[in-house]
Amino acid sequence: MHISVLLHEAVDALAIKPSGIYVDGTFGRGGHSRLILSQLGEDGRLVAFDKDPVAVLSGEAIEDERFRIQHGGFSRMQQMLQEMGVAKIDGVLLDLGVSSPQLEEVSRGFSFRSAGPLDMRMDTSSGRTAAEWLATVTEDQLGEVIKEYGEERYARQIARAIIVARTRQPIVTTLQLAEIVATVVRQRQRENMRHPATRTFQAIRIYLNQELEELSLVLPQCVALLNPGGRLVVISFHSLEDRMVKQFMRAAANTDELPRGVPLREKDLQRFSKQKLKLIGRAIQPGENEVVKNARARSAVMRVAERITLNG
Ligand SMILES: C[S@@+](CC[C@H](N)C(=O)[O-])C[C@H]1O[C@@H](n2cnc3c(N)ncnc32)[C@H](O)[C@@H]1O
Repeated sequence: MHISVLLHEAVDALAIKPSGIYVDGTFGRGGHSRLILSQLGEDGRLVAFDKDPVAVLSGEAIEDERFRIQHGGFSRMQQMLQEMGVAKIDGVLLDLGVSSPQLEEVSRGFSFRSAGPLDMRMDTSSGRTAAEWLATVTEDQLGEVIKEYGEERYARQIARAIIVARTRQPIVTTLQLAEIVATVVRQRQRENMRHPATRTFQAIRIYLNQELEELSLVLPQCVALLNPGGRLVVISFHSLEDRMVKQFMRAAANTDELPRGVPLREKDLQRFSKQKLKLIGRAIQPGENEVVKNARARSAVMRVAERITLNG
């Protein structure tokens, strides 16, 4: 089961028009999608995407003519919509990261708490598994990935330990990797708040699934797809994603004021014409009640922006 994070807040932020066309770029188990559908009228439409074939299968069980789900990374959103004959949309939701079923199903290999094959692919139909990648990656690249995507201070030492360990035995299970990381981190980490392998697993998952690349590719497509007044709603689960969303929205909102009472110069007009989004409210985080019921909500941050009408 997956408990949707910021369910009502995110769907409210879409400001749904009953006859609009909406996109849920991260269907998961469809918590947000179902609430969106409940607010759409007969003419409304919802298109959902997910990289994970199991998520798509669960979406195909929704029998509703207004709904369609397709397997694929959201970085291909514009093309996939075009192929469905959809040129413009009225709102898009991205609820990033992994779902609870992905984390909890041991065969997916995302969890360092239970024994499973070291897979970690959201899209099990393509790409390398974590075990395959770890078998050939260089120590330098591994260290960089763990440092950059895990913001792990012991990245270099962890990379070294993994490379040494794989000369003895291939690293093919989640617990094997978790144990190697723990031997390095436990020695150094005094207050053991999180599992020592948390950051390393996060880093490898983000790298393998190209999560930041996917996000950087989809954001401009969302802006291009949105009708004036349409909303972009993004829920992030770690600082790297949130930073990217914040910087993207701020740049597209380009909130610099135009000078008053002076003739506009070419430079001012250019700056003004770049403005494509208006920021809606501040970043929103789940309240204490939600975090108590759903620990996964703890690190969530939601940002909302609206397409404005100035230019094409
Ligand atoms: C946090 S869950 C979404 C949960 C969903 N909002 C719900 O209420 O059930 C994230 C989902 O997005 C999918 N996903 C992550 N990155 C993706 C991408 N680049 N393209 C398509 N799907 C992606 C994952 O496979 C996962 O199923």
